[in-house]
Amino acid sequence: MIEKINSLKAQIEGLTAGNAADVEALRIKYLSKKGEVSLLFNDFRNVPAEQKKAIGQQLNELKNLATDKINSLREALDNADTGCEGLDLSRTPSPIRLGSRHPLSLVRNEIISIFSRLGFTIAEGPEIEDDWHVFSSLNFAADHPARDMQDTFFIQRKPADVLLRTHTSSVQSRVMENSQPPIRIICPGRVYRNEAISARAHCFFHQVEALYVDKNVSFADLKQTLLYFAQEMFGQETRIRLRPSYFPFTEPSAEMDISCNLCGGKGCSFCKHTGWVEILGCGMVDPNVLDACGIDSKVYSGFALGMGIERITNLKYQVKDLRMFSENDTRFLEEFQSAH
Ligand code: DAH
Repeated sequence: MIEKINSLKAQIEGLTAGNAADVEALRIKYLSKKGEVSLLFNDFRNVPAEQKKAIGQQLNELKNLATDKINSLREALDNADTGCEGLDLSRTPSPIRLGSRHPLSLVRNEIISIFSRLGFTIAEGPEIEDDWHVFSSLNFAADHPARDMQDTFFIQRKPADVLLRTHTSSVQSRVMENSQPPIRIICPGRVYRNEAISARAHCFFHQVEALYVDKNVSFADLKQTLLYFAQEMFGQETRIRLRPSYFPFTEPSAEMDISCNLCGGKGCSFCKHTGWVEILGCGMVDPNVLDACGIDSKVYSGFALGMGIERITNLKYQVKDLRMFSENDTRFLEEFQSAH
């Protein structure tokens, strides 16, 4: 028995454990009811009386040794070096990589901010639209080429057309149908056209529409609003000019140019040496549109304008290729980190 005790002692002293499960296995092996140490206690009954004292002492020592060893293995594991000593886990990781706003969002927010200073509020409408809001209510003739498959993405043709809006002017008719003047809204949003993707065209892009309807709204109001917008956006020295144009939903219609913000109007390759760059379409809301949307054109008049956010962004930041806006190339996006 003494021999067995001594050999167990030697074994136990040399024990090691790599994890908590190892420690538990050792505890079961030596100290559980059927463990090796406990079994020796069972055998103790057969030890002759004169040896009981000495062997009893040895056995107790063995049990204490096993208990201490297993406890110390467990403690050592609990305190094991996790690699975190001395680390301040509450510290923010560094260097902190700040995100940046997308250039189109920056410019959209600036346009919204300028118009909100004139009392315009934001209105929104769906990107998936019907023919009425995108075309018919806006005085597009039944055979107008913009309705053509060439331009418009149709989702469904029968029983009624369901399509992706080709311009944010559709929000105009939705707002006029649902409210009476005074109406002063801007509608930023994404629009879709069936175009081959290139540096100069994309099948989706962004527009901001503005609409002002009230009694006695005149072309002079439109012109003053345009001048204010152009100077706030491109600088106080900016000049504007209006060229007659045609849109089905405005009469008269115009396109606005601003003095080239790169050369100040002297002429450069950017403005094709004209000194002017085109930035938006506008006009007095056609009375047919007011009437189609439930607003009495004998009492009210209004102006509308629409611009492409990509176009304004190109002018501000000289982005040469439209595709950059949707490629999510972080090298491009990080260039706008300091803008806000
Ligand atoms: N909807 C026109 C387009 O997509 C832009 C436009 C022109 C909007 C004149 C207007 C406007 O509100 O009056 O090309």
